[in-house]
Amino acid sequence: MSAQELQSTAAALVAQGRGILAADESTGTVGKRLASIGVENTEANRQAYRQLLFTSPEVESHISGVIMYDETIRQSTDSGVSFGELLAAKGVMPGIKVDTGAKPLAGAPGELVTEGLDGLRGRLEEYRGLGARFAKWRAVITITEGLPSLRCMEANAHALARYAALCQEAGIVPIVEPEVLMSGAHTIDRCEAVTRDTHRLVFAQLARCGVRFDGMLLKPNMVISGQECEAQASVQEVAARTVALLRDTVPASVPGIVFLSGGQSETLATEHLQAMNEGAPSLPWALSFSYGRALQHSALRAWAGKSSNVGVASKTLLHRARCNAHAARGEYTSSME
Ligand code: 13P
Repeated sequence: MSAQELQSTAAALVAQGRGILAADESTGTVGKRLASIGVENTEANRQAYRQLLFTSPEVESHISGVIMYDETIRQSTDSGVSFGELLAAKGVMPGIKVDTGAKPLAGAPGELVTEGLDGLRGRLEEYRGLGARFAKWRAVITITEGLPSLRCMEANAHALARYAALCQEAGIVPIVEPEVLMSGAHTIDRCEAVTRDTHRLVFAQLARCGVRFDGMLLKPNMVISGQECEAQASVQEVAARTVALLRDTVPASVPGIVFLSGGQSETLATEHLQAMNEGAPSLPWALSFSYGRALQHSALRAWAGKSSNVGVASKTLLHRARCNAHAARGEYTSSME
């Protein structure tokens, strides 16, 4: 794929206020989600749940791409259409999570480094054959009183850059996801400082590895108070500080920034996105979403594992997708809820 094709794929993922549905939970993680509604973690139940999400009528009006897990991209609908083909036929780009998970980083107690570079060139070729046009790799940065270490941030930044370079070589748009976790009692100031350091290191490594900024997307956390912090910053403060930090760290040629929700409630994730787009209308990049939990939480509950609930669960997903797409255009109001 040429540089121009990478650019057009990346731009299409954030065009017209559409965003991305992250449905790439590993078998273990989706098992926790299914357990929360009393559903067993079997291959058939995972297929039924993902089928519900992907066949949801009209969702393509608000969703430009779906990130799948390795098992999911190989699954099909009950009528035998592969999920990749189903999505592509609706005008939704199939995407794939290609990291193999965050593992303990040697010599850095309490910290993680994301694995999955070995053999990645071959896997990307296979995923492209299965229809994937973009990919995701998530790095995890933990905040405590003494963390993160520079070692952890550097190791993760380097892995993200090597992943992104391999993706672009394969004609796949990399989503670069350095997630500074919101778990902990840290202040928004600390989140901002760690996120700034992380972005600086990530973009330095991306440049060193020859990654084209116009053929990638960034998937960051918002600048937000730690979940257990007593003084929770307001929606306006989160929006203003996140936009200011992004202006300071993200090159203007990156076509889009698609946030993760990271444990925020569904409505708060939407309100933050709205406040950013409303408060800063002329930004160099599109600001949209790549939410997992903040798109799926209510839909999963509405489904509860029963085929008779598929219709209402699909509508629940559509509602959240619509609210977030409006927020990505700065046009969401709470009356839409
Ligand atoms: P959340 O929106 O639930 O954080 O998930 C997004 C994601 O893909 C994390 O890697």
